[in-house]
Amino acid sequence: PPGTALAPDGALRIGGCHVAELAERYGTPALIVDEGALRDRARRYADGLAARRTNSAVAFASKAFPCTAVYRLLVEEGLGIDVASGGELALALAAGTDPAKLIVHGNAKTDDYLRAAVEAGAGLVVIDNFDDIERLEHILGDAHGREQAVLVRVTPDVRPDTHEAVSTGQRGSKFGLLLPQAREAIARLRGSSRLRLDGLHVHIGSQILDTEPFVRAVEAVAELGEFPVYDLGGGLGARYTYDDRPPSVEEYLDALASAADDLLPSGARVIIEPGRSMVAEAGVSLYRVVTVKRTGGETFVAVDGGMGDNLEVSLYGQRFEATVATRPGGPDGEMCRVVGQHCESGDVLSASVPLNDPRPGDLIAVPVTGAYTYSLANNYNAARRPPVVFCRDGRSRPVVRRETYADLMRRDLP
Ligand code: LLP
Repeated sequence: PPGTALAPDGALRIGGCHVAELAERYGTPALIVDEGALRDRARRYADGLAARRTNSAVAFASKAFPCTAVYRLLVEEGLGIDVASGGELALALAAGTDPAKLIVHGNAKTDDYLRAAVEAGAGLVVIDNFDDIERLEHILGDAHGREQAVLVRVTPDVRPDTHEAVSTGQRGSKFGLLLPQAREAIARLRGSSRLRLDGLHVHIGSQILDTEPFVRAVEAVAELGEFPVYDLGGGLGARYTYDDRPPSVEEYLDALASAADDLLPSGARVIIEPGRSMVAEAGVSLYRVVTVKRTGGETFVAVDGGMGDNLEVSLYGQRFEATVATRPGGPDGEMCRVVGQHCESGDVLSASVPLNDPRPGDLIAVPVTGAYTYSLANNYNAARRPPVVFCRDGRSRPVVRRETYADLMRRDLP
C-alpha cells in the first residue's frame, strides 16, 4: 500500500517504522501517518500548481484531518488553510496559520464564527448565502474602517459521479448559490462599502475520479464574468483500493490549469482546496485482531476498532483494502470480512478482502485512512479515540494521544 514498505522479515513499515514496534509502543487501534508522504503530497500540489499557473495557491481543506500537528506540517509546507467552522478556525490559528492564508467556509456561519474570522484577519470569507452578507456587514460595522475580502460560492449545477452525500455542486445542494442568485449576490457585494468582492468559489464534491466535472465547474464560474480570484475547491479522489484509478495530482492540475487558461482571465489568481487527496494516502490504521469467526460461509475478522475511528464505510460505503501487517499476503488469501467491535452490523472496515491466515493477536493494517477518519471519529460504545502517530525516516512521534476513560467523563457534570 502507499506509504508502506516491507521490512526484511516481511512485515509492513510505515515511514520506515516497523508496524509491530508501532503497535507495541502506541497500542491499537492507532492512526499512523507517514510524514514524508504527506510532505511530498503537499509539495506536489503546491509546486505542481505553481508550475502550471503563476499567481496560484493551495489551501488544505482542513476538515479532512483537523489536528494541530497536521495544520502545522502543512503550514510549514507553505499551504493556506480552508476552515469550515469556528473550531477549525481556532485549531488553524493555534497551529500558527498566517490569517491572510485562511479561507473561511460554511453554509451556516454564526455571528461568533464570522466575528472570530474577521478579528483574526482571515484572508477570504466565502459567501454562501445572503445572510452571510448581512452578518458580515454588520460585524464589520463594529470593526472601524475594516474591509473584508470575500468570494461568492457558486453552485454550478454539475453532478459528479460520486456518493450522493459528498456531492455538493448540483441543483438542490444546500451549499452555495445557483447562477441567478449568485449574480444577485455579486450585484449586492459590488454595492457594499465594507465587503470587497474578490471573486468566486466552486466546490462540486468529493472522491471524484474523473477530471471532466472539474472542467465543467470552471465553465460555470466563467459565465459569471471576470474576477481577480477563483477558488476551485477540492474533490480529487484518493486511491483506496487497487481497482480505484483516480487521476494523479498532476493530471488533475493539468486539467484545472488548462481549463483556467482557456476560460478565466489570464491574470486571475487560482486557488484550490484539496482535502482528501492531500492526506488520505499518508494514513494507515493499525488494529489488533480480537477474534476470527468462521460461520455461515463467511470469515469475520473482528478487530479492536471500527466505526468509532473510521466512519467512511458506514457513511459513504467507502471500500478499503486490509492486510495482516506482519504477514501481508497476495490475492490468494482467505476472503474475509474485517469488522469492528461496535454494536452495529454496519461496523465494517473491509467487506471482502483476502487475508493471509488471520489469527487473533495479528495486526491488521488498513491503508489510505488519513482522510475524514480522525475528523469523524466518535465515542460510540464509549470507545476511546485512537492516537495519531507521525513516522519519518524510521522515527515515530505521537502527535495526538489516545483518549482515556477520564476523557470520556471530562464533560459530565455530577
Ligand atoms: N472545499 C470545500 C468548500 C469543501 O466543502 C470540501 C469538502 C473540500 C474543499 C475538500 O474536498 P476533498 O478534496 O476532501 O474532496 N465527510 C465526507 C467528505 C465531505 C467533504 C466535504 N467538503 C467524507 O468523510 O467522505
